[in-house]
Amino acid sequence: MKKNEFSIPSKEIEVPGDKSLSHRFVIFASMAKGVSISTGFLEAEDPLHTMKCFQSLGVRFEKISQGSYRVESPGVAGLKSPLEELDFGNGGTGIRLSCGFLSGLPGMEAVLTGDASLRKRPMDRIIKPLNSLGANVTSIPEDGRAPLRVVGQKLTKGKYSSPISSAQVKSCLMFAAMASQVGLDYEEPEISRNHTENMMQFLGGKINYQSSTRFVMEPPYDFKGAEFHIPGDISSAAFFIVLGLLGREDSVLRINKIGLNPSRIGILEVLKNMNARIEITNKRKECGEEIGDIIVRGSHLKKWEIPASLIPSIIDEIPILTILGMFSEGGFCIRNAEELRAKESDRIHSMVVNLKKLGVPVVEYEDGYEFEEIPGELQENVQIETFMDHRIAMSFSILAYASGIKINIDDTSWVETSFPGFFEILDGISK
Ligand code: S3P
Repeated sequence: MKKNEFSIPSKEIEVPGDKSLSHRFVIFASMAKGVSISTGFLEAEDPLHTMKCFQSLGVRFEKISQGSYRVESPGVAGLKSPLEELDFGNGGTGIRLSCGFLSGLPGMEAVLTGDASLRKRPMDRIIKPLNSLGANVTSIPEDGRAPLRVVGQKLTKGKYSSPISSAQVKSCLMFAAMASQVGLDYEEPEISRNHTENMMQFLGGKINYQSSTRFVMEPPYDFKGAEFHIPGDISSAAFFIVLGLLGREDSVLRINKIGLNPSRIGILEVLKNMNARIEITNKRKECGEEIGDIIVRGSHLKKWEIPASLIPSIIDEIPILTILGMFSEGGFCIRNAEELRAKESDRIHSMVVNLKKLGVPVVEYEDGYEFEEIPGELQENVQIETFMDHRIAMSFSILAYASGIKINIDDTSWVETSFPGFFEILDGISK
């Protein structure tokens, strides 16, 4: 498909802090007795909801400056049951990880809920394994969805072999085991993002790896407050990586200080195989996480068959990779990605519905979708439905910029759940 002719004149940007790490910072800082400090904390709706929930358990959060918080916790034993329902907004990570943590705290009683999108998402994937370890977690509407009632228990040492590669399920059980000071033997089909493992080890916890996809952790989990530096979120950077690639050949965009955890950089592998001109520089490690700067140049993209093993590490980037695929020689295909149906929206449905509105002849599968190279122009003035999903809103905003066609997006406010400042960066990109 034809691009809008735009050039990015050697621009340098940063994107806000990593969402996954920001949620985990709140939980680890609440678990660790004493004072913890963050830099780079993502001040977006999702992690701020999680922070507010832990505030109502008795943890003190004080903002020092943008992204920098001082957290003072009485430690696990000092946390108290909240007086009101805990509202996690749109955040699946917040509710699932916190549910695990609270379920392992004897004496804790709480109801966990969220917005209409979150209340539609599957929670039985955590309820079942948690209860098999002795937890008492119930779906109040009895349909495997939130609101969830948690009555904290001393859990038993356990083993779980997950049928899905989900960092939320894995981290939920890890936090449950940590709260209850019991061992956990965990296995998953492919490695999902391992930030919980990294943060735990950064705080002095021990993990014994049996293989890349199976580990055993054992107490004690007695963490002390620490300082965490949170890098930029590669899932947010992804929108601008794609925009940089879609610029004219002389475009150069540098995105500084991005988290490059090996379990998150599947997008770089996909892009390289799509013929993207992309370079990583200034690689370093901070607080157990790899970080670097990404340099992107305008490129001629080609289709690549994405292997199933890469899906867990690109799961949040599939909507924006689809937009890139619209400009690629050979089109785009994603399969083995049924997990997309369990995100903030059913992202297979959300993408297919909106692509069809734009006139793209897309074929939907249970586990993905596919379209051939797009020869002509897109339908103009289409109304994109975001389905309460930030990544759908941002992906189609990038499409509008890169194609130059007029696209209306029904509700861009969802962008605030993960990427405040997205439109400001977009507006300044080729200035
Ligand atoms: C996340 C894990 C992923 C990802 C989500 C954040 C996390 O979900 O889609 O945006 O922080 O653990 P799953 O682990 O359920 O695939």
